[in-house]
Formats: sequence, C-alpha cells, structure tokens
Amino acid sequence: MNNIDLNKQLFSYLHSSPTPFHAVANIQKYLLSHNFSQLYESDKWHLKQGQSYFVLRDNGAVIAFTLGLHEPVTEGFRMLAAHTDSPALQIKPKPSISEGSFLNLGVEIYGGALLNSWFDRDLSLAGRVCCETGNGSLEIMLIDFKRTLLTIPSVAIHLDREANEKKTVHRQNHMPPILAQDCNNNFPDFNAFLSAQLQRQYPAAKIKEILSFDIFCYDTQPPTYTGLNNEMLSGSRLDNLLSCFVGMSTLAAAGNNYSNMLICTNHEENGSVSASGASGAFTDAVLERIAPDPVRRRITLHNSFLISMDNSHATHPNFKEKTDPAHLVLLNKGPVIKINANQRYATNSISSAVFKNLCKKIEVTPQEFVMRSDMTCGSTVGPMTAARLGLKTVDIGVPSLAMHSIREHTGAEDPLLLYRTIMIFLQTESSAWNLHNVT
Ligand code: CO
Repeated sequence: MNNIDLNKQLFSYLHSSPTPFHAVANIQKYLLSHNFSQLYESDKWHLKQGQSYFVLRDNGAVIAFTLGLHEPVTEGFRMLAAHTDSPALQIKPKPSISEGSFLNLGVEIYGGALLNSWFDRDLSLAGRVCCETGNGSLEIMLIDFKRTLLTIPSVAIHLDREANEKKTVHRQNHMPPILAQDCNNNFPDFNAFLSAQLQRQYPAAKIKEILSFDIFCYDTQPPTYTGLNNEMLSGSRLDNLLSCFVGMSTLAAAGNNYSNMLICTNHEENGSVSASGASGAFTDAVLERIAPDPVRRRITLHNSFLISMDNSHATHPNFKEKTDPAHLVLLNKGPVIKINANQRYATNSISSAVFKNLCKKIEVTPQEFVMRSDMTCGSTVGPMTAARLGLKTVDIGVPSLAMHSIREHTGAEDPLLLYRTIMIFLQTESSAWNLHNVT
C-alpha cells in the first residue's frame, strides 16, 4: 500500500460518508467485496475459524471480525475501536422557519461542533429517513442530496464591528441554515421535499408518508491535499472516519492467521450512551455469540489487546501556548499515544510500552500527547470499552489540527503511518501484550 493510493481511497470514503449511516453503509459495501459475510442479530450464527464476518446495529455501528486459524482463546483478539459520528448540525423534527422571504431550517447542535466554521459554507443534507411505503410497512432509506442546498451567512463586519474580537454564536438563533428564498414565501413542505429526493434515489419505492428522519447538514467541499508539496490533508469528518477507514482497510488486508476485530460505534461525540454507542452492549452481544462459554470468553478477552483509534491534537503553530511544551505533536511524524492521568484516555504505562514496541517493527517512533495541566482533556471510546470488557487498551490517533471544525487537517503521511502500525498489530502474536511481572 502506498501513500497516494491510500489517501485516494480515504478521500473517496470521506466524501461518500456525510453521516454515520453512510459511513457504516460504505464499510458494509467494502467488507462484502472483501470476503466478509454479513451476520444479523436476529439469526443464529454458525461461525467457522478462518472466516470473516460483520454485523450492523441501527445503521450507525458495525463490528467486523476474523476468526483466526490460531485458536482465539489462546491468541486473543487484536481489537480496534473507532467512532462513526462527527459533530454536525442535525435537522429538527419540524424544521421549517419562514422569516422574511427566507426558509430556514431549525437545527440542533450534534456533539461539540466548532460553530464558527459552519458559516458561509456550501452545505447539503444527508441522513436516514423512516417511511411508510405502499403496503403499509415501515422502511428505512438513506438519503443524500449531494448538491449544495444550504448556507449559513455570516453577519457582515459593518453590522458587527466587534466580530473579530468578540464573536459568539447563539446556538438557537444564529445557526438555522437558509434552504430557500422566495419573495412570495412559496415554500415546499419539508417532508415533500425529502420525499421527492427519495423518489429520485429509489425510483421503485412507493413512499406513502415520511414519518421521521435523522438528517444532518454537511459540507459539500471534497477533501484535498494542501501545502506546498501536498504534505497535508484537509477534509470533513477526519475525526473519526480516518480511523474507521484505516480499521476497515487493515482488517480486510490482514489475512486470517489471527483473530481480529474492528468495532465502529456511533454517538461518541455526545457520550456513547446508546444501543449503537460504545457504552452500550453491542460488543458484549457479539462476543457472547463468538465465545458463548463465559470462562472461555474471559480468557479470550484476557489474551486480547485493544487499540482505540481517535485523532489527537497536533501542536498548532499559531497557538503554541495550548500545548504542553515538552509534548509537541507534529504532523507526518507518526501515530500519537494519548495519555491522561485521570483516565480520560485508557493508555497506561504497559499498553503504551506495548504500542511503542509494535511501532519499532516498522521503524516508527510514536509521539506522545498529554494535555496541559491547566486545561481539561477530551476523551474517547477507549476508557469505557476497557472498563466494560476488562481489556488492555491503548488510546492512539493521527495528529490533527482544527478538531471538530467543519474541516479538519492532518499530515499526508499520517494515514499510511497509522495503516502500517495497525497492520503490524493485526499480525502479531499475543505474547507481545501478555507481559509478566518480575518477582
Ligand atoms: Co473523535
């Protein structure tokens, strides 16, 4: 795998995944084309060693795994975790707001979005819609308009002279994007507007009525290289679709010698408490099917190791004071181990050492991130997954700038450096993390 090919695939994945539902549908498509079989929670499973499988939950989460030729109970699972959601504007159930000659859409703020970055962007709409169809049954359809539809205009500097010093954003009043303008206020019903798009996407569907939806605004600008020598990448939802992408690509490429598992869950940006979130029991439910005997399952988990992948803050050249001076994090320098004394990250000295040792095999020296002691630290799915399953866990991620902006940045080498690190992990035997105390 080379840098150019990997980034091309990453760009395509990012651009075709405007929402968690699309991110998961694209993983599903990819895994089906790479010899993974789809399982359903409603069925009994008949699993075979050497085979690869995946299961979806609520359109927003996916767990994929390979049952290795080496016995999983003795060799454990090489586990990867990432999240499918990103901060965004989510359309309210009754969104239409007619103001002057404009039609705006009411939005909720999903997750910890950096709101200033959403102004003056070319936005579109995508998500999931639940419809009543011809025979009276309810069906789920993914929707994506794929064209610029909306914008949130800034207020002009002449009308807000202090905007550059004191810009604050009112979440209820300032964020509703404009969908249409008509001097006679002649606007379509929002559900009728959705229905017409669904009919274009699914010409055979007989849509009677739209009952509800989960729809988000997204930026239509595609990901791109930036920098004099294309040394950086810029795009939406790098946090954390970059990790989902590397997880799915490495899992499919790793072969079936060892047992591997990728856990991509939803709702990390608002706390992970949901049926498809990392704090829910999706992973437990899958593990119970793979290893129904509780003692064997416990031994399997003891012999397993989890790499929780989520982007890390790189040192910002214009805001150096935001970084601990002894822990500068650079783009294009390799994956970052994330450390926090208060367990906001699951890394400890042992899992950190295991990860550093893995990186040695590909001659990469991982970087280390720790928050300044006078600032509060973010978190990941790492600690809750480690706590739930009793797993040895390290929290790592690619270095990035502008986390939670509508557009984020990383190094052009960083996806490949993460990919190579994860590939080594997926092909390493469990003695690498089953360490012994010196007595
Ligand atoms: Co994240």
